[in-house]
Amino acid sequence: MKPKIIAGNWKMYQSQADLSDFAKALEAKLASSSFSKNILPLICPQFISISKAVDLFGPLNIAIGGQDCHEKISGAYTGNVSASLLKETGADYVILGHSERRQYQKESSELVAKKAKTALDNGLKPIICVGESLEEREAGRAESVVAAQLDLSLPNDFAEGDIVIAYEPVWAIGTGKTASIEDVKAMHDYIKQKTKGQFPILYGGSVKPENAKEILAIDSVGGVLVGGASLKADSFYEIVTAYK
Ligand code: PGA
Repeated sequence: MKPKIIAGNWKMYQSQADLSDFAKALEAKLASSSFSKNILPLICPQFISISKAVDLFGPLNIAIGGQDCHEKISGAYTGNVSASLLKETGADYVILGHSERRQYQKESSELVAKKAKTALDNGLKPIICVGESLEEREAGRAESVVAAQLDLSLPNDFAEGDIVIAYEPVWAIGTGKTASIEDVKAMHDYIKQKTKGQFPILYGGSVKPENAKEILAIDSVGGVLVGGASLKADSFYEIVTAYK
């Protein structure tokens, strides 16, 4: 069985001091134990903290990822970060097409697919995010919206095991509203069937210690992508140890 990925998306949070405190607290919790072989913990900090995160969390067997990369390998793109530098700095994953980037940076699915190809070409595993808005869900369009995002956001060429999908209903992100277990299962089963079971599918949207176990127990859930509850070592640890 493939390990379930427990990913922390730190967004634009966590100072350098917070990173050190987090690592110390987590190390203390792990002093007498180690992570289950059935999970793969991952932290995605801000770009500037990636190098420090690799140093601090590598010894704890936590993988590191970026939160975005540019679609071009290199070039005159002031302010952007390349997939190759992310990889060189020690990241193994990169979140792409998060709904916050789709909303605030106006990223299209076509752009996400280009970024995913560049990430793969540079040895990074893209975590490609999809998810419907509340309006779309209420209009009964959740599946068709997700299907269209999947059709356009996935690159054409990839090797099995290189891509991760994250299903994050936009209305559940940072709102405290989690999709019901039935809704999570239904959408994950749908995505799994549509993508022929080729990818781990993470659920994201208000995952917390109280609901992680139930969500991770769903067969078609390949892990979780956690924002708010991943910022404190205590709750991250509880989520990471919710699946044995
Ligand atoms: P949340 O964020 O856990 O704070 O809802 C999840 C995400 O945006 O990836």
